[in-house]
Amino acid sequence: MIIIKGGHIVTPLAVYASDIAVEGSKIKSVEPNIDHSPGDRVIDASGALVFPGFIDAHTHFDMNNGVMTTADDFASGTKAAIIGGTTTIIDYATQNNGETLTQALRAWHQKADGVCSCDYGFHMAITDWNYAIATQLLNMVSSGVTSFKLYMAYDALRLDDEDIIDVMSHMKLLKTLACVHCENGDLVNYLVSQQKLKGNLSPSAHPASRPAQVEAEALSRLLYISDIIDWPVNIVHLSSALGLGEVRKARARGQKVFVETCPQYMLLDEGLYSLEGFESAKYVCSPPLRSKYDVGEIAGAAVAGEIDTIATDHCSYNYKWQKMTGVNDFSDIPNGLPGVEFRPGLIYGQFVKAGLMKAETMCALLSERPAKLYGLYPRKGALLEGSDADIVIWKNADIKANCANQHMKCDYSPFEGMDMGGRAETVLLRGEVIVENGEVANAGRGIYLKRDLPMIDQM
Ligand code: URP
Ligand code: ZN
Ligand code: ZN
Repeated sequence: MIIIKGGHIVTPLAVYASDIAVEGSKIKSVEPNIDHSPGDRVIDASGALVFPGFIDAHTHFDMNNGVMTTADDFASGTKAAIIGGTTTIIDYATQNNGETLTQALRAWHQKADGVCSCDYGFHMAITDWNYAIATQLLNMVSSGVTSFKLYMAYDALRLDDEDIIDVMSHMKLLKTLACVHCENGDLVNYLVSQQKLKGNLSPSAHPASRPAQVEAEALSRLLYISDIIDWPVNIVHLSSALGLGEVRKARARGQKVFVETCPQYMLLDEGLYSLEGFESAKYVCSPPLRSKYDVGEIAGAAVAGEIDTIATDHCSYNYKWQKMTGVNDFSDIPNGLPGVEFRPGLIYGQFVKAGLMKAETMCALLSERPAKLYGLYPRKGALLEGSDADIVIWKNADIKANCANQHMKCDYSPFEGMDMGGRAETVLLRGEVIVENGEVANAGRGIYLKRDLPMIDQM
């Protein structure tokens, strides 16, 4: 057995002193003063917070955007994840045009199986919708894929409203969840071409081509579709106060809406698009970074419990040879930021340790709620008897989210210089110590997670 002694257990409701006994891959008991026998391994957690392993439910590893492949694959991305305390990721498998969902799922298994250092599951992005695809949904559910991404922007990926409402009706039938990228693709195309006509080709044109109204309009439309079908949706990477306003309106109408945001929308603002030279390309992601006001509103909503989950939308491209391809035209800059390693540290350092967020809220946003929403609870996301022993022993430390420290395969950090205030000192994955003294002790131990249905009714 492993006995974790002297720590403070974090749950969404309380932080309290307790020991944890781990037997095999599961938590055996959570109680004070657990006795240990000579054969047991005792891990000293005194002075530490003990969290359920963090879940990052929005990554893009080894993803080709039609032109190039992300810098991180499943091996590097999940290794970086565990160093930060993330023990489960859910990646967006994506259907290429003309491909079946079964083919896409097989392709994602080929990328991930046997190389992951944390446990992993897949959402499926549906980019091509017809009757034949609809018949494959049940097969997805029995394969453990119980959430689906829909894009309202990006020409190669997006569905129109007629398809979206039909997909939503199937989501309701199967009790699965649509995770939706809310930007009005037609407006984006028009606004990008306007920027180009004006000769604005630098990264500073990126936010102007995707203003908050573009997010809020798509979001409002989607929420009315969800209302018609009477089945909730999950808004991914919410970035703006205007979009948040649409969520509030829908909730005031009595609708259930799930919302995800990411550290970049809680910490970074659009001022970064005015940097000298081409540096701003490092911050090109969609939706783009917003004003300081938006950042305050989104962070405030996360603290106040209006947001369900914080994920990263980790989609890393190197600055030197990937972001640079857009040096003559901002619309050629590959969209996305790295973040899977630093998310827990950033939320802890910038919010919890800074006194702006309770550790309990961090636990809800990074562990319990993603586990419930994505069909993993109580196996994951909780320190309960019988749960997987995915445990993060978190200690205060003087550590920054710098490129020089990172294990993500990316040549910059958008969060450079930001204090994380602590680190995952020891991490257990299903009872095995995979991180020790903040370093990887056992790589490649991740397994595929067949997820249950989202706990939509209980949230
Ligand atoms: O810029 C971003 N976010 N790229 C990743 C794909 C997406 O939209 O989630
Ligand atoms: Zn997206
Ligand atoms: Zn994404």
